[in-house]
Amino acid sequence: MNSNAYFDLNCVYIRLMRIGILTAGGDCPGLNAVIRAVTRSALAHGEEVLGFTAGYRGVANQDYRELDMRSVSGILHLGGTILYTSSYNPYREENGIELVKNSFKELQLDALVAAGGEHTMKMTGDLYLDHGLPVIGVPKTIDNDVPNTDYTFGFDTAFQVATFSIDRLHTTAQSHNRVMVVEVMGRNTGWIAVMSGIAGGADAILIPEVDTTVEEISDSIKKRHERGKSFSIVVVAEGANLSFESGEKRQIRASEETDGYGYPRLGGIGQALGRELEDRTGFETRVTTLGHVQRGGTPTATDRVLATRYGIKATEMARAGEFGQMASLKGSQMTTVPLEEVDGVKKVDLSYLELAEYFFG
Ligand code: F6P
Repeated sequence: MNSNAYFDLNCVYIRLMRIGILTAGGDCPGLNAVIRAVTRSALAHGEEVLGFTAGYRGVANQDYRELDMRSVSGILHLGGTILYTSSYNPYREENGIELVKNSFKELQLDALVAAGGEHTMKMTGDLYLDHGLPVIGVPKTIDNDVPNTDYTFGFDTAFQVATFSIDRLHTTAQSHNRVMVVEVMGRNTGWIAVMSGIAGGADAILIPEVDTTVEEISDSIKKRHERGKSFSIVVVAEGANLSFESGEKRQIRASEETDGYGYPRLGGIGQALGRELEDRTGFETRVTTLGHVQRGGTPTATDRVLATRYGIKATEMARAGEFGQMASLKGSQMTTVPLEEVDGVKKVDLSYLELAEYFFG
């Protein structure tokens, strides 16, 4: 019998829920806030929480620990995830699905909350559609590219780190009459680049969604300097193409490797673009690649609140039996969307780039 069950005064068998939680994919600020929110909400309703280690691997291997008040105390402001993370995909592992199904049965799991990016949402949705498992998705990622939700938690922190870095680079750029290129993350979308570029007053922004040529940026920098400006800030998303007027375009990769989800390892466009701009404009150029500092450390207040809202919503969904769904932010409201409608990636709304362009040149 589930340890969380009892007979009430009328001898009716009452079994309270046992909710699992996992964090999968790349870590991001706010994961601990979600774990805390799910746990606290469940405990407040007398429910049990099992925290699985390293994403779906922990579910497959029944590697978990029971989460109580103490285990989630003092973690709200911490980056990373106390549960660890991995890109383990049961669909790709031998017996993966059988192991996961078996764990649900043996551990008497009534619900599983999976916090992850678009790949985790896809596999979570498939586990529901193909096997009827009682799963719920919570969208996280600094890239803000999970479809069907306005914002993922983690994004605000990365956006703030990038903006803060651009502010700092501004002062050096000004003092030395330099062009400063800042490479930010975001995988195949330019959310971090466009938003931090607007907030940091960038003079050019390159995103994967739009091919801006090296010649266009060089001309714009030259014009800017001709009218008396002595420095320029260029923000480039790691997934943007290095494009030329000739029609040639290249995606720059950090290595030939792919990650656990098959994505190429991006990185390096900042350096490549910096060289092109220096050659074409003659202005001294420096490049800063922000890398994983955008993903680590303490979540912003906005991300803590958002992650908390997502976590509470996920437990409400579990109680309401709303499985195969993802908690989603639409406007200011927390709502639900079917996981099967969370497909692909959410590209940048180009009206943001149009807005940023008013300030270029
Ligand atoms: O998805 C988050 C992210 O930080 C991307 O912006 C970046 O391209 C990627 O993960 C880096 O992955 P890894 O940590 O495996 O190098």
